[in-house]
Amino acid sequence: MRFSNKTVVMTGGATGIGAATAMAFAREGAAVVIGDWNEEAAHVARAIAEAGGRATFHKADVRDPASHADLVALSLDTYGSLDMAFNNAGVLPPPLPLHEVPPENLDLIFDVDIKGVFYAMQAQIRHFLRVGGGAIVNTASVAGLVADPNMSHYVAAKHAVVGLTKAAAVEYSARGIRINAIAPGFIATPMTQAWLDSEDFKAAFFAHNVSGRAGAPEEVAGTVLHLCSDAASFCNGALFVIDGGQTAH
Ligand SMILES: NC(=O)c1ccc[n+]([C@@H]2O[C@H](COP(=O)([O-])OP(=O)(O)OC[C@H]3O[C@@H](n4cnc5c(N)ncnc54)[C@H](O)[C@@H]3O)[C@@H](O)[C@H]2O)c1
Repeated sequence: MRFSNKTVVMTGGATGIGAATAMAFAREGAAVVIGDWNEEAAHVARAIAEAGGRATFHKADVRDPASHADLVALSLDTYGSLDMAFNNAGVLPPPLPLHEVPPENLDLIFDVDIKGVFYAMQAQIRHFLRVGGGAIVNTASVAGLVADPNMSHYVAAKHAVVGLTKAAAVEYSARGIRINAIAPGFIATPMTQAWLDSEDFKAAFFAHNVSGRAGAPEEVAGTVLHLCSDAASFCNGALFVIDGGQTAH
């Protein structure tokens, strides 16, 4: 029970990596405040409560700065503290060659995947400065490290998450706030389901992936919890790759 008496606020907890991480935090004693625009996240909070844990869902769109202030306030009002944050919500508009990406798709991915993380950190850091510290983990991607064809919008946004994480860590390290990012590889979630349904894609992709399989969301959660824990007290401004060896190859 690494997180008894601690509270984590997180975005994108309805499905996939976020849902698995919410449950993992709760199993380790944390109170979990989940912000998501998908009300499926209410089921995740209910499942946590039914298992004896503490969780609250709040319908929130990460593109709205006010939603992050609401989530921080909800954490304090409901559980009396806020110690950790996991900024995980993300979208992946259809992969397209760069010259065919419509402006609205570019806006959506930048608004959610990078501006959503920026606004979240603003609200969380204001609180962490008041209480003397905290830990933040942002979800980037291996697309924040390397590029695949037809993913220019996603690659640009996730590289920006990595840069933002470093910039924020440098600014707030002396004030007791640690800020890291994770880079999951290919993880089986609703975001990747269409690819997982394609035998042709899987044969081509996994032939060049040393693990030969997709990761499970639970295999990402462990790193998030570690980075929020005291065991990671010297981890700051870094990107942690969880890709089964994909980018090592
Ligand atoms: N699945 C992968 O292979 C993979 C790999 C690398 C990084 N990621 C990243 O992991 C994160 C989680 O993705 P996932 O794979 O679990 O997919 P997912 O689709 O299951 O989860 C995305 C979550 O973000 C929420 N969300 C999206 N837009 C939102 C908004 N505007 N406001 C509030 N919530 C919003 C969704 O409702 C959902 O709960 C994303 O940032 C994604 O880019 C995924």
